[in-house]
Amino acid sequence: MNPDQRPKALLRAKISSLGTYVPPRVLTNADLEKMVDTQDAWILERTGIRERHLVDKGVATSDLAVEAARRCLAKRGVSPDEVEAIIIATVTPDMLFPATACLVQNKLGAHHAWGFDLSAACCGFVYALQVGTKLIETGAHKKVLVIGADVMSSIIDYTDRSTCIIFGDGAGAVLLEPAAEGETGMIDFMHEVDGSGGEFLYMPGGGSLHPPSAETVAQKMHYVHQDGQAVYKFAVRKMSEVTENLLARNGVEGKDLGAFIPHQANRRIIVSTAERLGMDSSRVIINIDRFGNTTAGTIPLAMQTALEDDRLHKGQLVLLASVGAGYTVGACLLRWEM
Ligand code: COA
Repeated sequence: MNPDQRPKALLRAKISSLGTYVPPRVLTNADLEKMVDTQDAWILERTGIRERHLVDKGVATSDLAVEAARRCLAKRGVSPDEVEAIIIATVTPDMLFPATACLVQNKLGAHHAWGFDLSAACCGFVYALQVGTKLIETGAHKKVLVIGADVMSSIIDYTDRSTCIIFGDGAGAVLLEPAAEGETGMIDFMHEVDGSGGEFLYMPGGGSLHPPSAETVAQKMHYVHQDGQAVYKFAVRKMSEVTENLLARNGVEGKDLGAFIPHQANRRIIVSTAERLGMDSSRVIINIDRFGNTTAGTIPLAMQTALEDDRLHKGQLVLLASVGAGYTVGACLLRWEM
């Protein structure tokens, strides 16, 4: 091809397959009652969570990601060799480097793929989805794996009742491919960052500012620290704002949506956003009761729940939305093409 030429029009991208994985071990609210001063009824009422899945010692984010990716590729009959790029959204990489995407590329046997990790906490999956979408739309690649995976239990203090009740471990992978003739697939994204909120949800230790030391461990700096109320207020406001703005920009109303598949941080945040959008509960996908907040894993895990419940069908308009540490805010409008 002439190096000065560029493709004239963007292609369209679609999600062509989905695979998810959660580790088998379950931690119920009753189990947590034995570990910290909390009650099943309090957790259920304030968050909507009944139980979450946690890894056993020695199981890392790459292990969950590889299993989700294998299931995703097998469903579509695609061999790992055909994958051209792997983007992993995570805040709990196996290690600081190499990137978890490299570890997954190797374990999966995706010999022709390049890849990288993307750090955007609970918005990681929607951010990675946009990056993967652009790789398809520009014609750069034809098969991109976008994976949201986190082992939150590796950074949670199980003596801190304000955080240990919320999080779980899990992963979900989608395959992005060019849409076929007549298909729409990915439509639009709207993302935002408000870095002034960084201090309300973060892990202070282990990076270049506070490298790991006996002191950082003694001060519990390698755990999640959260001001729950500050995060809650921001999330309620921003989830509504970003979803309303994205729908308005595309001339879509809540009634046009087949499904709203939000990040699962707190049932009350989801319900309040859905009410603002005028969506009845049958079209709002909630599985936080079974998995808790798996950070980058929640949206693909919720897609899986929607499919299993027969609430997600080809041709439906679907809205994804998330708010998380950073603060990060993200939303995506797409047409489901599977
Ligand atoms: N069990 C029992 N009581 C608890 C508790 C627990 N696990 N955690 C906190 N409490 C107590 C508090 O100590 C407080 O007691 P007090 O009134 O005597 O001081 C009371 O419950 C209310 O605490 P508060 O923090 O105001 O509760 P809340 O209704 O805000 O719920 C969260 C706490 C964390 C569930 C809620 O703030 C939340 O979901 N925030 C957003 C978190 C989030 O989404 N994070 C991820 C972003 S991606």
